[in-house]
Amino acid sequence: MRISRKMEHVHYALELGQSGQQGLSDIKLVHNCLPETSTDHIALTTQIGDLIMSSPILINAMTGGAQETENINRELAIMAREKGMAMAVGSQMSAIKNSEVASSYQVVRRENPSGIVFANLGSEASVEQAVRAVDMIEANALQIHLNVMQELIMPEGDRSFVGMLGRIEAIVRQVPVPVIVKEVGFGISKDNARQLHNIGVRVLDVGGSGGTNFAAIENARRPAAMDWLNDWGTPTSISLLEALSVYARGSVIASGGITNALEAAKALALGASAVGMAGAFLKVLRSEGVDALHQFADELHHGLILIMTALGTSTIQALGNSPVVITGQTAEWCRARGID
Ligand code: FNR
Repeated sequence: MRISRKMEHVHYALELGQSGQQGLSDIKLVHNCLPETSTDHIALTTQIGDLIMSSPILINAMTGGAQETENINRELAIMAREKGMAMAVGSQMSAIKNSEVASSYQVVRRENPSGIVFANLGSEASVEQAVRAVDMIEANALQIHLNVMQELIMPEGDRSFVGMLGRIEAIVRQVPVPVIVKEVGFGISKDNARQLHNIGVRVLDVGGSGGTNFAAIENARRPAAMDWLNDWGTPTSISLLEALSVYARGSVIASGGITNALEAAKALALGASAVGMAGAFLKVLRSEGVDALHQFADELHHGLILIMTALGTSTIQALGNSPVVITGQTAEWCRARGID
């Protein structure tokens, strides 16, 4: 049941695609016609919490738990190793419950022994399960995903969300690696960011709407669908600004609907320190193959270098301090919510 659900998620994520309504068209970068830099001077290194990453783009959590998902994880892990990207595995709860499928996650560490790898579990996890997930793949950090709306839409999904903060706090205190709390495409508000900050979570991945849409995916999986929930969630541009009104630079990852170097650059210019991409990598891998996946990663890095040169910002930190103009719904929302 669990295993077929994972391949259904892959299938529907690809079939439904990404809406592109992640709000980044509201963000304008200001061209610098005297940039005083060269493409040779651009460094893509970045830091999230204590983790130093050679690329600001990370492969976000997707899968594991079955043979076909093992193949996906293997190809993504090889790309992560070759291109110096951090990579998260999908939720490891299936392997916690059935150790026979652990290999489909461990392949990510086998293929990339010295890379940065993130473990992944939901907020229902206990401390003991969290430690096992980290050990399973010798993870450098642990992602705890929040997916309340996805659970609510699934008839077999969770119905009670009592005690989430308490469980996350226990994990943050007792798991020996940094904990990243992430949404899966519905966004994190400044109020939620404050709650998470107060319990000691040091890194957020905002996982805003506008990309892979788990309301639409769950609705596509069954006949009596609640399609009227398909627009639920806060777009990535807005969620990023909400999170950054609480969290300092160096601790926020932008994700949700990011598909190219310009969208990544806009998120980094707003103050994200890294950008997570899931659906876009999956699409290239499954529809065009491994060579195209590697080319796509090169294009992302090359594109970022071009944009940073045109802005005269030679580091990711400098990109985060470059001027941006916030327009449209994102600007309106920030005014209404008192976010500068
Ligand atoms: C996901 N995502 C996800 N997230 C998570 O924390 N644990 C998981 O197991 C999964 N599973 C999963 C499967 C598939 C097929 C996809 C495409 C995605 C969510 C993912 O990490 C990300 O938060 C969202 O997909 C939004 O980003 P994109 O896809 O718009 O870049």
